[in-house]
Amino acid sequence: METDVIRIDPASPDPGAIVRAADVLARGGLVALPTETVYGLGARADDAAAVARIFAAKGRPAYNPLIVHVAGEDAARGLASRWPALASKLAAAFWPGPLTLVVPRDRARVPDAVCAGGDTVAVRCPAHPVALALLKEVPFGVAAPSANRFQSLSPTTAAHVLKGLAGRVDLVLDAGPCDRGIESTVVDVSGEVPVLLRPGALARTALEAVAGPLADPSPPAEEGAARRSPGMDRKHYAPRARMVMARGDAVEEALRSAGTRVGLVTWRARERRDVERLPDDPAGYGARLYAALHALDDAGCDAIVVEELPDSPGWEAVRDRLARACG
Ligand code: TXA
Ligand code: MG
Repeated sequence: METDVIRIDPASPDPGAIVRAADVLARGGLVALPTETVYGLGARADDAAAVARIFAAKGRPAYNPLIVHVAGEDAARGLASRWPALASKLAAAFWPGPLTLVVPRDRARVPDAVCAGGDTVAVRCPAHPVALALLKEVPFGVAAPSANRFQSLSPTTAAHVLKGLAGRVDLVLDAGPCDRGIESTVVDVSGEVPVLLRPGALARTALEAVAGPLADPSPPAEEGAARRSPGMDRKHYAPRARMVMARGDAVEEALRSAGTRVGLVTWRARERRDVERLPDDPAGYGARLYAALHALDDAGCDAIVVEELPDSPGWEAVRDRLARACG
């Protein structure tokens, strides 16, 4: 298929472009859309055939459930068989924003394909003017995983989306780089105690200030068993190049030995070729991490050394993504 790209101003999205994207979705097509975290690969969530196109385009196995994006709490409630009190509390505090809530699923409203056949559905209201305008335009939720091929790096620009999905998506809404740059935090509020399934752009401390302590997911009983949050598999979010973490005093040696053309991601000042220097705070670093890895991949690096992170609080999500990328 031919992939159309429309540039759209995130400050004041052109209504004509939004209507066009809504029309593609209504017909069962795929639209890559910007959110505040990463670009999503969207399809109407009430149409199993449209949702199947997402899995085909990504090359993603069907046991991985998708997040349904909605315009607000009312739309989210419409997809749930029960809306827990904690969901209301968290939605009031953090939506629109980078928080995904896993709630009991209304089987009549949400097809099996969205939820890998499970009893829950993940819902999120993104804080991006383009995504919100589109979600308000359509009478359905929009299922959207990150707009990358399965197990490769998440996209924070339209160019990243096209690298993996050109010819596999009908329309890309290009609103420039995403602000947060790291995926949403996923919290399961369907059970007795809330569980932090995936650390992400919304910090655990902010969540716990509202929700109280969050439990960690129990490890899968056995390989191949039903997974609580399949996106938590290792070897996810990875660049093409081999990734290595190195302590400050081991960086020089790692740069010499890790590969033929070795890139470096660091928050320190280090002069060399193929270096991506990121801010030394978690939000700033997280916002640019994927773009840095994309850039070093594109430069032709066969290995990427990541210098150990600063010893300050708030790095949980960044640490998680780096550990997975090192797989
Ligand atoms: O920031 C984000 O969350 C981005 C943007 C596009 O919204 N989306 C995203 O989607 O990262 P994806 O599909 O790459 O990751 C979705 C995560 C996975 O870890 C998946 O396992 C989990 O959410 N998830 C989805 N539905 C679930 C469910 N019913 N129960 C448990 N985990 C679920
Ligand atoms: Mg993803």
